[in-house]
Amino acid sequence: MTAIPTSDRPFSPLLRALREEGLARLAPKVPRVSLGMASCGLAAGARETWDALRAALAGRDTVACLVPTGCLGWCQKEPLVEVRLPGSPALVFGRVTAEAADQVAAWLAGGELPRAHLLGQYPAADRSDGQTQPTTPDPRFPAGEIPLIWDLPFYRGQLRWVTRNCGFVNPADLAEYVARGGYLALEKALARGPEWVVEQVTRAGLRGRGGAGFPTGAKWQAARRAPGEQKYVIANADEGDPGAYMDRGLLEGDPFSVIEGMTIGALAVGHCHEGFVYVRAEYPLAVERLETAIAEARKAGLLGENVLGSGFAFEVHVVRGAGAFVCGEETALLASIEGRPGEPRPRPPFPSEKGLWGRPTVINNVETWANVPLILMSGAQLYASVGSEGSKGTKVFSLVGDVSNTGLVEVPMGATLRHMVEVNGGGLSRGTRIKAVQTGGPSGGFLPASLLDLPVDYESLTGAGTIMGSGGLVVMGERTCMVDVARYFLSFTRAESCGKCVPCREGTHRMLQILERICAGGGRPDDVGLLEEWAWAVKDGSLCGLGQTAPNPVLSLLRYFGDELEQHVRDRFCPAGVCRELFRFGIVPETCTGCGACLRACPRGAIGGEPRQPHIIDQARCTLCGVCRDACPFEAIVVEPRSPADEGVNRNE
Ligand SMILES: Cc1cc2nc3c(=O)[nH]c(=O)nc-3n(C[C@H](O)[C@H](O)[C@H](O)COP(=O)(O)O)c2cc1C
Ligand code: SF4
Ligand code: SF4
Repeated sequence: MTAIPTSDRPFSPLLRALREEGLARLAPKVPRVSLGMASCGLAAGARETWDALRAALAGRDTVACLVPTGCLGWCQKEPLVEVRLPGSPALVFGRVTAEAADQVAAWLAGGELPRAHLLGQYPAADRSDGQTQPTTPDPRFPAGEIPLIWDLPFYRGQLRWVTRNCGFVNPADLAEYVARGGYLALEKALARGPEWVVEQVTRAGLRGRGGAGFPTGAKWQAARRAPGEQKYVIANADEGDPGAYMDRGLLEGDPFSVIEGMTIGALAVGHCHEGFVYVRAEYPLAVERLETAIAEARKAGLLGENVLGSGFAFEVHVVRGAGAFVCGEETALLASIEGRPGEPRPRPPFPSEKGLWGRPTVINNVETWANVPLILMSGAQLYASVGSEGSKGTKVFSLVGDVSNTGLVEVPMGATLRHMVEVNGGGLSRGTRIKAVQTGGPSGGFLPASLLDLPVDYESLTGAGTIMGSGGLVVMGERTCMVDVARYFLSFTRAESCGKCVPCREGTHRMLQILERICAGGGRPDDVGLLEEWAWAVKDGSLCGLGQTAPNPVLSLLRYFGDELEQHVRDRFCPAGVCRELFRFGIVPETCTGCGACLRACPRGAIGGEPRQPHIIDQARCTLCGVCRDACPFEAIVVEPRSPADEGVNRNE
């Protein structure tokens, strides 16, 4: 659900006027058709859907407001379209391709409802925009049961607080943001003062969403107390973890919440009139939407010399990062903004004492900033009532990998991994058994399926040998080789190590060499011990978080998947069927019915056999593509160790 926990109304005439304007746009007198046009939607063809919708509405002389929004979270169902008929609950449609867009327009013109694309509805109350249930239902609103989208498995148990506006508002429209409670928090902060703000953020128990989970209130207090006439705030939007896109989703869907959070933070820190958003250059749409939002806020007097007429001055600048993962580390980020090479430096001094250009600086993650207006709006007490003992509020995860439903999932802290994977994610997209989940990107670790009931909070994940990180959650099925995945992450951290310290530079290289050797079938008896030695040497001897956490994939491999590693080294066997030198496909004669499906599917003609007789794979022709395994309806094709006769068979042709 997304209900914003406040019923307050703004006091300032500016915000009141914006609110009215926004409400009128959110609930116009004609249908409002909004289309998710974040990166995920665009990748799924939202641009074509937009053109098709516009043409189809115009072609039928249907009057409607067509609005671009951010991502509603369910990326799997993109392009997502929401249609709100006047005075009616909103209907959400999924996979609205250009062809389906025509069907939506035809329905609005009086035709059939495109039921195949209808996902559900949400009640007007969820919008927090004053809209009431219809008194005279629009005749186009369908009769019969329509599920609430919050009851669908993907959204069940989610608490969409931070992402409450994503997919609902036009991210370029300040008035729509204000209509959803935007800038109420800043108004409160200006009225009650910096000490109150810091106290609220502290009492809420907000911890940094960028990885380490440092208490935000304490960080702000340190910067507030640090001597200095010029201080800064920074939003860290570097988001370099492979598979993670929570911050991109927020910036593309609700950039004003980050800007408002930073404005409040600047007020709280004191002597702070400038903020920076350090955003990776690979996020052009996020940059564009952020820049538009900054310009709109400035135009309205919510940034600039005299914020909300209070005399407080604050400006936000956007700085593009150049794609180095290490530049997400806060001291490397500072160096990068200053125009120096993006290399970490020792701490202390911490940025809150000596940050940008030597001045006290608060660096927070994008999601951390977006939580701030929410806390002030709802009150620290209500915010802190959600979550677990040491981890309050919600966390956004990008749920990817072998799950049926991928997307951005926001759950209360303390929700279980199982809930996210099996309910929100809808279980496995292929295969039958979840093997592992990986949290925290390259700095995180693997957790076996037996730990799926672990609550997701900072302490539980760290205790299990991984980290919350910024919210990447990769689900892996039984066809994933954990040794190969550890190799992949090591290849990432080795390439991204800045090379400043020897343990990190050398150690990631050596661990990668060992893993590559093992995956290629050349594992040596002492490799497992060597891996462990290097892992601890790198963890203990590195200067920054990149090096300190780079061994986590290796350490969790050793901790939870030691048998699989041993099989690679000792038995020269990759049971997942991934490491090409360490397995072959075979057909179990007792299971094979001789149906011939594999024979027909194999692109190399490597399978032979008579109908209704067990089939055989010619290993000399097999390229290990695995098409036959997918084609076999009886699971008769299995991964098995190679025999000496397979040596020298060229499988790359
Ligand atoms: C290699 C490395 C990369 C990092 N990348 C990010 C990032 O992309 N975004 C982020 O917010 N924090 C990142 N961090 C963490 C930051 O150093 C810092 O702790 C964080 O921005 C502080 O914000 P928070 O307190 O709101 O979490 C990274 C840390 C390391 C060691
Ligand atoms: S730990 Fe690695 S990334 Fe960090 S400063 Fe040292 S060499 Fe650079
Ligand atoms: S598809 Fe399976 S059951 Fe059918 S012939 Fe091939 S191995 Fe045998």
